[in-house]
Amino acid sequence: MNRIVVYPGSFDPVTNGHLDIIKRAAQVFEQVIVAVFHNPQKKPLFSMEERVELLKEVTKGLDGVSIDYFTGLTIDYVKSREAIAIIRGLRAISDFEGEFQMASLNKQLDGEVETIFFMTDTKYAYLSSSVVKEVAQFGGNIEELVSDSVKAALQKKYGVG
Ligand code: PNS
Repeated sequence: MNRIVVYPGSFDPVTNGHLDIIKRAAQVFEQVIVAVFHNPQKKPLFSMEERVELLKEVTKGLDGVSIDYFTGLTIDYVKSREAIAIIRGLRAISDFEGEFQMASLNKQLDGEVETIFFMTDTKYAYLSSSVVKEVAQFGGNIEELVSDSVKAALQKKYGVG
């Protein structure tokens, strides 16, 4: 069986924490589709094209990993790609409630699709796209938090660095 999984998210932008989850998921499953969610209600810093491009850049050379985007329900996208599970990363306990709600809702929408969690590497436990943007905006050092291409893209957006 070709075990396809979907790792959905905003990825605005992809951080080293996301990348760690992608790499680990790719060691367990044959195909990992990293899917950027287009939320018409939100105004992200990076456009859909930019987020997809950055993800392609940072996952270059990773076997079994592909990048895509979607709008609408995650569960519908997962079914359309014939995936068996949704991958999510869990950082601190504070993530649990929202993730539990999302996983339960998705399970209720389609009982066949599992949500599988990867615990974050402790060195990324505090890391999120939001904190990266905040630090980058004020010219802080984001070297350890994102890849070089993401760092460059952030510095360009904020006109710093
Ligand atoms: O990176 P994020 O912002 O934590 O990702 C959240 C995401 C995109 C996975 C979640 O908001 C989502 O699945 N949105 C798609 C709409 C949907 O399916 N909603 C029902 C489940 S909450």
